[in-house]
Amino acid sequence: MRPDTTTGATSGDPVVELRSVVVAFGGLLALGGVDLDVAQGERLAILGPNGAGKTTLFNVVAGDLVPTEGSVVLKGVDCTHLPSRHRPRLGVGRTYQKARSFPGLAVGDNLYLAVVGRHGRQRALLPRSGDHSWRDRAAAAAESVWLYDRLDTRVADLSHGQKRQLEIGMAIVTEPDVLLLDEPASGLSRGERERLTGLLDELAADSTLLLIEHDMDVAFKVARRIVVMSDGKIVASGTPEEIQANALVHEIYLGSEALT
Ligand SMILES: Nc1ncnc2c1ncn2[C@@H]1O[C@H](COP(=O)(O)OP(=O)(O)OP(=O)(O)O)[C@@H](O)[C@H]1O
Ligand SMILES: [Mg+2]
Repeated sequence: MRPDTTTGATSGDPVVELRSVVVAFGGLLALGGVDLDVAQGERLAILGPNGAGKTTLFNVVAGDLVPTEGSVVLKGVDCTHLPSRHRPRLGVGRTYQKARSFPGLAVGDNLYLAVVGRHGRQRALLPRSGDHSWRDRAAAAAESVWLYDRLDTRVADLSHGQKRQLEIGMAIVTEPDVLLLDEPASGLSRGERERLTGLLDELAADSTLLLIEHDMDVAFKVARRIVVMSDGKIVASGTPEEIQANALVHEIYLGSEALT
C-alpha cells in the first residue's frame, strides 16, 4: 500500500467498488448515484449530516440492501444481489448504528456466535470439531477489544463503552478484509471515546476500515481519507487536512457541527 499524500487514497487493490449506486425509498433518493473505490488497507471515514445516506451506503456494501440501480463489487466480484449472510465469507464485517449483541448472553458467547455466523450454521450443529478453535478465536477477539477480563460477563452488565467494544469485537472475530463501523463512538463519554480511538487506531493498522463517525476527533485521528456525503451524494473527498480546509464542507456543517 502506497498512500497518496495529495488525496489520501492508496494504490492497493480495490476491495470495494460502488458504481452509480442509487437507493430510492419511494420518492426519496437515499443514495443518488454514488461512485466510491476503497483500496486494500485504506482507512476511510464517511462524514455527513443526519440523513445524508451514510448508513444506507453501508447497507449496500454489507448486502443488507439491494440498490435500486448501480453495482457493488467486492474484491473484484459483483455482489450487487448477494444476500448479506454470504458477505462475511467474502470478507465484509460490520457493526450497526444500534447494538445487535445478545444482552442476556456473556461476552464470550456473543463472540462465539459471531464466529459461527461466519462459518455457517450447519457446521456449528455438527460434532464439536471446530469448537475449540472457535472459542480460542472468540477469546482472542475479546483481547483485541480489551474485553478479555469480561469474557463471562453478561452483555447487559457491560458499560455503554464496553458494549461498543464488543460490537467491534463481533465484527473483527470474523476476520473481515473490510471492516464497516457505523458510529462506534456514539453515546460514549470523552474518556471512552479516547479509549475507542486508540483501539481503532491499533486495529486499523493492517485492515481496510470504513468508519461512519459524527465525532470529528475520532474520524480525523483514525482515518487517512475522508469522504463527505450530503443528500445522498459524495460531495468531497480528501485527506483530513483537505477536508478541514474545504469551504463546501464547512457550509454543509454550518449550524450543525463545526469542523475543528
Ligand atoms: N428503510 C428506509 N425506508 C425509508 N427511508 C429510509 C430508510 N432508511 C433510510 N431512509 C431515509 O434515507 C435517508 C438516508 O438515511 P441514512 O440512514 O442512510 O442516513 P445517515 O447519513 O446514516 O444519517 P444518520 O447520521 O442520522 O445516521 C434519510 O432520509 C432516511 O430517512
Ligand atoms: Mg446512520
